[in-house]
Amino acid sequence: MYRFNREEYDRRMAWFKQARFGMFIHWGLYAIPARGEWVRSTEKMPEEEYLPFFREFDPKHCDMREWARAAKNAGMRYAVLTSKHHDGFCLFDSKYTDFKSTNTPAGRDFVREFLDAFRAEGLKVGLYYSLLDWHHPDYPHYGDMNHPMRDDPAYSNEGRNFDRYLDYMHAQVRELCENYGRLDIMWFDFSYGDLRGEAWRAEELVDMVRTLQPGIIIDNRLEVSGEGFGSLYECDPTPWHGDFASPEQIIPPNGLTDVKGGDLVWEACVTMNGSWGYNAWDNFFKPADMLIRKLVECVSKGGNLLLNVGPDAEGRIPDRSLETLAEIGRWMDKNSESIYGCGKAGLPKPEYGRITRNGNKLYYHVFENTVGALPLTGVTHGEVVCARRLADGAEAKIEHGWIYDNYPDVVFCNISNDPVLPDRTDTVIEVTVR
Ligand code: GLC
Repeated sequence: MYRFNREEYDRRMAWFKQARFGMFIHWGLYAIPARGEWVRSTEKMPEEEYLPFFREFDPKHCDMREWARAAKNAGMRYAVLTSKHHDGFCLFDSKYTDFKSTNTPAGRDFVREFLDAFRAEGLKVGLYYSLLDWHHPDYPHYGDMNHPMRDDPAYSNEGRNFDRYLDYMHAQVRELCENYGRLDIMWFDFSYGDLRGEAWRAEELVDMVRTLQPGIIIDNRLEVSGEGFGSLYECDPTPWHGDFASPEQIIPPNGLTDVKGGDLVWEACVTMNGSWGYNAWDNFFKPADMLIRKLVECVSKGGNLLLNVGPDAEGRIPDRSLETLAEIGRWMDKNSESIYGCGKAGLPKPEYGRITRNGNKLYYHVFENTVGALPLTGVTHGEVVCARRLADGAEAKIEHGWIYDNYPDVVFCNISNDPVLPDRTDTVIEVTVR
């Protein structure tokens, strides 16, 4: 039986903490109505109205190798795909349901294609699996908090056998763990109301997953949702504890530590616009420069960023998202050393930006230029060995002279003579300290 063990835990989390940046992919039938992955629930849509999308699903332009290249070129180190979302539709060839992509006109096992393509680019791979299931007859309908038919007494729960659903859910997770090679992450989603922990037969489930996939990392949503942090945070890990906290659509204002103040592994999942699944009406996209800074923010607070894309019904990642990924990639090409393997600096946040750290390297991320030379917040003259612009290796010379002499304890370095930053999004200064 699986039990928490700190050493094993640290070992399996090492790559994840190094990686810092991943791609979340929400994709399924809901790409056709194109109003987000909750469309059935928000519109209280009966399944008959949703099934036409199942009979139609044929994303002819879906080439997962292109998705994988986009992720890789953006500097992402791992990716997580929705193998099944709340609608119950499976992107894999499960033998326990007909409601799967291999039975649509597409006739394809997209989970396999995803895993092949992303592994080929050298990325770690994870699968999202929804604990909720609005297709399965044994999942609570009437009176459930989220089910599309929650308000309709005609969908009474009489005769529904939740245990039968759990057998189904466990069997599908087993298929994913047994038939698709090595998985790096299992991303369960999500617990609510009474449905949490052992209500999912979580101990048995986690035990199976960890036995079949030694070293796999599991999120914390068998215990919580985006709301709540889980038992690792409480410093009292259950046998089904999550390996990381999963704040959703927020970067924790002060980062996250456990209740005793110890480091806690976390991953903020964030959409590029406001929707997870493809939403043709949601054009409120976060600009690339903002996302670069948010990635830096996560790392400076000791966390990861899992940035979402929602491919459309044709299987294409929207152009806006691709352009943003490419722009992030251009920045990462020159500055990724300040992201991978980095974490909290343990220094006060400078007014002009943030600091990330990897051992004796401090990375000062300058979002807004200063007048004159840049004060290296938090370090002393005795500590600084040298300062370089990370993107081009140019020396950022330590400045002395009457302007700076009034502040003898502050180390100033010259990052450019141009008051406009060399990289207006984030100019990174690498400072080597003793
Ligand atoms: C959620 C939502 C959802 C999305 C997700 C991502 O709580 O239900 O649609 O998949 O979490 O974190």
